[in-house]
Amino acid sequence: MLTANPQLNADKTLKHLLTTEGLPKKLIEQILETADQFVSVGDRDVKKVPLLRGKSVFNLFFENSTRTRTTFEIAAKRLSADVINLNINASSASKGESLLDTIDNLAAMNADMFVVRHAESGAAHLIAQHVKPGIAVINAGDGRHAHPTQGLLDMYTIRHYKKSFHNLSVAIVGDILHSRVARSGIHALTTLGCPDVRVIGPKTLIPTAVERMGVTVHHDMQRGLEGCDVVIMLRLQNERMSGSLLPSAHEYFKSYGLTADKLSRAKPDAIVMHPGPMNRGVEIESGIADGTQSVILPQVTFGIAVRMAVMAMVTGN
Ligand code: CP
Repeated sequence: MLTANPQLNADKTLKHLLTTEGLPKKLIEQILETADQFVSVGDRDVKKVPLLRGKSVFNLFFENSTRTRTTFEIAAKRLSADVINLNINASSASKGESLLDTIDNLAAMNADMFVVRHAESGAAHLIAQHVKPGIAVINAGDGRHAHPTQGLLDMYTIRHYKKSFHNLSVAIVGDILHSRVARSGIHALTTLGCPDVRVIGPKTLIPTAVERMGVTVHHDMQRGLEGCDVVIMLRLQNERMSGSLLPSAHEYFKSYGLTADKLSRAKPDAIVMHPGPMNRGVEIESGIADGTQSVILPQVTFGIAVRMAVMAMVTGN
C-alpha cells in the first residue's frame, strides 16, 4: 500500500521521484540548489564525480526518447554509476513478460535505481510500490501524467534566466490536455510561488477544470501572451490523441504557432522554452526556435545537472 507521499522517506528526504505534485517547496529548492553544484562538472576536462560509484542504474525506456534517455545516461555516468540501457525492443517484454516480472529480474541483478519511461500513466508509481527498500525509482515520463525531471529542469532554466518566481507571468501554450510536461511544470510553478501561470490553447486541448490547478485559461494566444516573462511551447502529442481534435496543422499554426508577431505581445526580455521534440512550422516558427529569446538548448544542458541532482538525492547523497 502506498503512503500519502510515496516519493518521500519518513524524514522527508527524497526516496523516489514520481511527480512534482505534492513535492514540498523546500525539496524542489534543494534539487535546484544541488543542480547548481553539478552544472560546472560538464565544463571540466574529467566530467566525473564519484558520488554513485558502484551503483547500478537501469534505464528502462518503454517509449521513445532522445533528450531524457541520453541526459539520464550522461548524468549517471558523470556521477560514476554503472549504467545499463535496456533495449526494450530486444528484451523479453516483446515475448509477453510483464512489467513487474521484468523489474524483479533486473532487481535480482542488484539494481540500485530504475529510470522509467512508459506510455501508461502510473507505471513508475506501480514500480515504486513494488520494489524493495533501497531501490530508487525515477519517473522519466508516464503517459500524460507526469514528467517530473522535465518540470524541474524547466524550473532550473526559468530560475537561471529570471532569478525568482515571485513576480513572473508564465504562459504554457499548446496541447495541455495530453501533456505530462505541462502538468509537472504547473505543479512546480505554483509550489514555487509563481503568481501568474496561464495555459493557452484551443478548447479541445485544454483539460476540463484545469483552473483547479491554479492557472488561468486563454484561447486567444495574442491576449494570453500579453506581458509574459516566460513562454513554454508544447508539441501536439498526436500519439495520445484519439480522434481529430484539430482542423489541420496549418490552421493550428495560424492560431497557436509562436511567431515573431505573437511573441511581441510578451515582455521584450521574455524567454522561449520547449521541452522537445519540436515540430517547426506547427507550434513554433524556426526563426523563434533559433532566435535570441530561445533557451531551448540550454534547457537540455541544464537537464543533465538537474538529473544528477535527483539521482544523488534519491541515493542519500
Ligand atoms: N522532453 C522530452 O521528454 O524529450 P524526449 O522525448 O526526447 O526525451
